[in-house]
Amino acid sequence: MTLLIKGGTLVTAGETFQADLLVEGEQIALIGADLQAPPGAGVIDARGRLVMPGGVDVHVHLDLPMFGTVSSDDHYTGHKAAAFGGTTTVIDFISQDHPSLRACVEAWHARVGGKAAVDYGFHMNITRLYEHTLDELPILLEEGITSIKVFTAYNNRLRLPDGDIFRVMRAARKLGLLTLLHAENGDVIEVLVAEALEAGNTTPEWHARTRPAWGAVEAVLRGAALSAQTGAPLYVVHMNAAGEVDQLAYALKQGLAVMGETCPQYLCFTDEKLSEPDGAKWVCSPPLRGAADRKRLWQGLADGTIQVVATDHCPFFFDGTRPIDYEGVPVAIPGKELGEGNFTRIPNGLPGVGDRLPILWTRGVGSGILTPNQFVALTATNPARIFGLYPRKGALVPGADADILLWDPHKRLTYGVAHARHRTDYNLYEGWELTGYPEKVFLRGQLIVDGERWLGRRGQGTFLRRKPFAEVL
Ligand code: URP
Ligand code: ZN
Ligand code: ZN
Repeated sequence: MTLLIKGGTLVTAGETFQADLLVEGEQIALIGADLQAPPGAGVIDARGRLVMPGGVDVHVHLDLPMFGTVSSDDHYTGHKAAAFGGTTTVIDFISQDHPSLRACVEAWHARVGGKAAVDYGFHMNITRLYEHTLDELPILLEEGITSIKVFTAYNNRLRLPDGDIFRVMRAARKLGLLTLLHAENGDVIEVLVAEALEAGNTTPEWHARTRPAWGAVEAVLRGAALSAQTGAPLYVVHMNAAGEVDQLAYALKQGLAVMGETCPQYLCFTDEKLSEPDGAKWVCSPPLRGAADRKRLWQGLADGTIQVVATDHCPFFFDGTRPIDYEGVPVAIPGKELGEGNFTRIPNGLPGVGDRLPILWTRGVGSGILTPNQFVALTATNPARIFGLYPRKGALVPGADADILLWDPHKRLTYGVAHARHRTDYNLYEGWELTGYPEKVFLRGQLIVDGERWLGRRGQGTFLRRKPFAEVL
């Protein structure tokens, strides 16, 4: 299949220019002025449109069992929602459900089960050090998995003691694996949660009140210190607090190999949402913070302290007793109602994989905080570089996969659950007025989204084996 995308404005992380783009098979073959369509080629008129690399969302949780239910998007529905929002690559997290890392990886491939509709990779959660776990880390390289996540919170479930995080990072450095850090203070959270429940404080705002920002701030500095002491690069996920950005900036000033990610929910909302009647919709970990935090996160994106905008997409139904229609079939999955009367039982997580690009465009580029080039860097190029996918992903260059967005910067719409395509019954941005939206989305040269039409299919997505010793930005 040969395709000429003609007359568009190409936007990359570094520049903006008029050019035509020729796709041959699954890859970009040529970029240049006034390219002629080879005989038999399809031609797409891209005049008035921006041509950008497909989004790369390096933080999603699909079909993840937790809180006695499961995140409501699986590796088909979540991929489809990603595609509608302009994202063509996602990276999901493997739970350490088995003592053997190989068994964990195989179990996650089985969960995907041929459903993938966009390209995808895996990170490995390391939540327990068995005697053999560190020796098994090379298995991850063999499996094309080059990043691991560790937690300083979720006591008795996911948290590793600091000494174990130190040991993991030391081993990771030697292998070229990148360590991702969930930064909160698990011990303080444990005390505050017990006290809140004891006092009968069970409503959703107590979720945020029992997970203080200072715990996140000191855990980022702790992570940076461990990075310094092991020489291992560190990537802080879902940054949410102003002080976290300050700590990252401090660590960068010391010359440390630290990087960070934030998510649209932390850029767009505050913890006041948790006090509203539907507060459970906003329960995620780490929690939403205050207005000053939101401002500092935007600043961190604009000045380069934070390199990536991902989503932490981990959706649940607000009312999982009432089915929604999904591709003509009624679907209901237990969700936030499980936490009625006890905030600790509300499944933690928010929908977002399809919202990321349109929301960041309107709020970031539309308001002048970010340039279109920064938008591409934060949503596609930087994550591809940091996670060993560049230049196959996140780039408009000959030889790259033809994951391409035709973006209509003038398209106006009132956004909400109907546009987002997540398999859940609500959307965080319901009723928001957006300007700028993906019009066509190509995955390796195949048109998978054409306006409102879904042309993708299950099984079209391929597993991405990633490179170790990837870039530190
Ligand atoms: O609330 C969230 N973010 N759930 C997903 C798990 C995590 O820590 O990223
Ligand atoms: Zn996390
Ligand atoms: Zn997460």
